[in-house]
Amino acid sequence: MSSDVHTQPLLDAREVTVRFGGLTAVDHVDAVFMPGELVGIIGPNGAGKTTFFNAISGVIRPTSGRLMVEGRDLSGQAPHRFAARGLARTFQTPRVFGDMPVRENIAFGLQFAGRRPRKYWLWGEEASVPWALRTPESILSLIGLSAQADLPAAAITPSQQRLLEIGMALATRPRLLLLDEVAAGLTEVEVEAMARLIRRLRDELDLTVVWIEHAVTTLLRHVERVIVLHQGRKIADDVPAAVVRHPEVIEAYLGDEMAEEAAA
Ligand SMILES: Nc1ncnc2c1ncn2[C@@H]1O[C@H](COP(=O)(O)OP(=O)(O)OP(=O)(O)O)[C@@H](O)[C@H]1O
Ligand SMILES: [Mg+2]
Repeated sequence: MSSDVHTQPLLDAREVTVRFGGLTAVDHVDAVFMPGELVGIIGPNGAGKTTFFNAISGVIRPTSGRLMVEGRDLSGQAPHRFAARGLARTFQTPRVFGDMPVRENIAFGLQFAGRRPRKYWLWGEEASVPWALRTPESILSLIGLSAQADLPAAAITPSQQRLLEIGMALATRPRLLLLDEVAAGLTEVEVEAMARLIRRLRDELDLTVVWIEHAVTTLLRHVERVIVLHQGRKIADDVPAAVVRHPEVIEAYLGDEMAEEAAA
């Protein structure tokens, strides 16, 4: 059954290691992301979460290990090759074009869209694209920024800039969306709204989402699986209910109180 496309991982990271001089930021991490999954990545500051994202999106070249995207070996390839295979990501520090209107920021992302092999060539590329991702306006509506469309990106709030960054990533019509702390600095209510948006994107857009966040209690309520990194190593990879009871995870990151709260 290994040839069944439905059982093929979207991304299969094998023994990925990233070293910076003497520091091993990511240490032999294996991770598999299946189509349609919503997976969280948690871990203390400096655990290697962002570096792992950088490695699996081609932003940095792993020191060793393999990266298979839908069965294709992309190890050592440039970021645009990963993007062309349907990977999109946000950055921990939002990277929007501040002078450009919000709408133009989305339009910029759309220029990079649709470079994947077409499924329905007779009907054109757009036939396989969900309605919600076809125009800057539909994407702005999806992320709730329609009213801000004409404002320069620098003029919207930091939490709106995080939404915009998600919109820019969506504009490339990804299959795998990597979100790096998109809820950082948001209020509790905004974090919850962000989690709901992320769920909705996954549900409605046929996406696989991997979400790094320190807002652990919210994250655990919304994801189906959690990977825990600590000092570059993967110390857990399981459903939330199991991860919060994992002794090494409690010791390294959650603490007893938080584990109880998260388990409740
Ligand atoms: N370009 C780099 N050069 C040297 N060291 C780096 C580089 N990028 C990251 N590091 C180091 O690698 C380790 C992992 O960093 P990383 O940013 O991946 O952690 P993180 O889990 O994302 O942390 P945070 O939760 O604070 O965002 C840290 O010790 C960091 O200082
Ligand atoms: Mg980080």
